[in-house]
Amino acid sequence: MKDRSLNRVLGLGDAVGVGLGAIIGAGIFVVTGVAAGVAGPAFLVGLLIAGIVASFNGLSSAQLAAVYPHSGGTYEYGYRLMGPSWGFSAGWMFLISKLSAAGVVAIGFGSYFHQLLPLLDPLYYSVMAVVLLSLANLMGVQKAGFINILIVAVTLLSLLYFVFGGIPSVNAANYKPFAPYGVLGIAESAAILFFAFTGYARIATLAEEVTEPKKTIPKAVVITIAVAILLYAAVSFVSVGVMGAEGMATSHSPLQQAAMSVKAPGMELVITMGASTAMLGVLLSQILGISRMLLAMGRRRDMPVVFEKINKRGVPHIGILFTGIIILAVTLLGSFDFVVRAATFTILLYYGITNLSAIKQPAGEHIYGRIIPWLGLAGCITMSISLPLSVIASGLILLATGFLLRRIPRIN
Ligand code: ALA
Repeated sequence: MKDRSLNRVLGLGDAVGVGLGAIIGAGIFVVTGVAAGVAGPAFLVGLLIAGIVASFNGLSSAQLAAVYPHSGGTYEYGYRLMGPSWGFSAGWMFLISKLSAAGVVAIGFGSYFHQLLPLLDPLYYSVMAVVLLSLANLMGVQKAGFINILIVAVTLLSLLYFVFGGIPSVNAANYKPFAPYGVLGIAESAAILFFAFTGYARIATLAEEVTEPKKTIPKAVVITIAVAILLYAAVSFVSVGVMGAEGMATSHSPLQQAAMSVKAPGMELVITMGASTAMLGVLLSQILGISRMLLAMGRRRDMPVVFEKINKRGVPHIGILFTGIIILAVTLLGSFDFVVRAATFTILLYYGITNLSAIKQPAGEHIYGRIIPWLGLAGCITMSISLPLSVIASGLILLATGFLLRRIPRIN
């Protein structure tokens, strides 16, 4: 229990695997349907905008992680470069966003997996996933990383099969009218789809466990986002072409619906399996990331000191157990549409602080030029204000609640 440093065991392949595992999940398998409902086929443009903003943010995260390779991501950068309140805001927003998103992903997993094995109610599968993946995290980051790579491989293969198997069933008429809800619809779809790209900073959050972080992290972030943009664009293009945006919008499992219209052997089974593994991958890495954020915040006493504890396996076990319990609570009480938007708003605030921190870095630390964090910041602000007022208000109330809780004296 006395050893307080984590082990550097993750290489470039593991880091890209962690990134893809964190990114590809409910966003592409479920949230694309919500986005199709607010923008029509033009959500494809929203998807690209979200991907571009995610790239700017990712480059800012990578530049910061190269200089500050510690657990905690923007919580650390905000603290060091902007001041304690900014750092705390970033950490708190990360926790709110990821704990809620993890609950939604668990629910998504339950619904998809139920179609593979309709023996139990979907919620039982959601609960089992949270428990099993918390246990996987307790086994240590190296084993969790290996499980993650297996999961990512199945997900990637299933989505590639969907793209290539689906192309012959694409009907050009399904792309018309292309933008029935105009520019505002596209803007909201971009904000909603930002959810689908979140996760790339997980690589930076694990900086303390990555080998040669200065080289590995920027490379891993760039590779991960590029793969995600290409894959999402191809999958969404085929899925609109096969079933139309309206069809996608009425379903909580749009890719599965599209798979049913595709004449390729076993497509429905493959996509249901891919969705299940993707959600498992996201959950696994979310538990990993949240527990490391709790560790970083515990070290600065922004969270109870107990989260700082690391066991003999190099695992922050208390943080993992706490994370699993809160995710279970969100899973049992969560509401999909609101939480997706809330998780996006809070993570946009987090990335806003990432970009502000990157702007504040001394000139010698800038890898990609000062324009990148400015563009990322502009993207975060524009997308945040494209979300419904109720979501913005709830996010700000949660932020204020965090500051109130922080004032409660803790026993160290
Ligand atoms: N990007 C993650 C997902 O799509 C959160 O599930």
